[in-house]
Amino acid sequence: MEREFLEEPKDLEEIPVLEEIKEKNLVIFAQNLIKDYEIGDFVVKAVNDVTLRVKERDFVVITGPSGAGKTTLLNLIGGLDFPNSGAIYTNKVKITDMQEESLALFRLMNTGFIFQNYNLISTLTAEENVMFPMNLAGMLLKEQRERAVSLLRKIGLGDRREHLPFQLSAGEQQRVAIARALANNPPIILADEPTANLDKVTSEFIRDLFLDMKNGEKTIIIATHDDYLIQLATRIISFEDGQIIEEKIV
Ligand SMILES: Nc1ncnc2c1ncn2[C@@H]1O[C@H](COP(=O)(O)OP(=O)(O)OP(=O)(O)O)[C@@H](O)[C@H]1O
Ligand SMILES: [Mg+2]
Repeated sequence: MEREFLEEPKDLEEIPVLEEIKEKNLVIFAQNLIKDYEIGDFVVKAVNDVTLRVKERDFVVITGPSGAGKTTLLNLIGGLDFPNSGAIYTNKVKITDMQEESLALFRLMNTGFIFQNYNLISTLTAEENVMFPMNLAGMLLKEQRERAVSLLRKIGLGDRREHLPFQLSAGEQQRVAIARALANNPPIILADEPTANLDKVTSEFIRDLFLDMKNGEKTIIIATHDDYLIQLATRIISFEDGQIIEEKIV
C-alpha cells in the first residue's frame, strides 16, 4: 500500500510533500489544517491553519490554555475527526483521503489513544478493554488474553483483570487505558492530558510508563501541563487560539 501510494501520488502537488516525508523520516505531516465549529452564526476556529511535522521518535508536548484547540488538533492528527481543509499524512499515508472503514483499521494498527477521561467501555472488564483493539485487529483469542494479562501486569494491575471500570479508581482506569493504547503495539501514541485529575503517586507511575514508551521507540504527542512529562519532550509546542505560537526544540 505504501509503495503503491508513493509511486502514484494523486496529484502533482503531492510529490514534494511525499519527498519531504521520505527525506526527513516524518511519521506525521499535518499540512495547513483548519477545523471550524459552527454554532448558529458563531464560528470557532478551533484549529486555524496548523502545519506540523513530527519525526520518528519525537516526543512532542503541546501546551496551551483551555479552549486553545489541543484536543481538536490531537483528534485530527489521529484521524478521529476530519479537518475542514488541509491534509494529514501518517506513516506516508494520506489519512485525510481515506474512507472511514479503512481509516479505522489504519488507526488500530498505527495509533494508540489515551484520553483525558479514559473512555473505557463500561460493560467490559479491565482485561476485555485491553483485548478490545486486539480483537478488532483479528488476533487469536488466546494471544489477546495473554497479551492483555502481560500488559495489565506491566501497569501494576495484574490483580484487577476482572474489574469493571466503575470498580477501578481514576488512576487505575487511566492505566488500563494506557494498556489498551499499547495493545496492538502501535508506533504512534497520542495522549490528551493523561495525568490531569490524578494524584501524585499515580501521575508518577503514568509518567514512568511514558518514559518506557519513549525508550521503546514510540513517536509520542501529548497535550499536557505536567512538568515531568514536559521534561521528557524533544519538542514543546505552545498552542493558542488554534495556532502554534511558539515551538521549542529541546
Ligand atoms: N464539538 C464541538 N462543537 C463546537 N465547538 C467545539 C467542539 N469541540 C470543541 N469546540 C470548541 O473548540 C475550541 C477548542 O476546543 P478544544 O477542546 O480543542 O480545546 P483544548 O485546548 O483541548 O481545551 P482544554 O484544555 O480545556 O481541554 C473551544 O473553543 C471549544 O469550545
Ligand atoms: Mg482538551
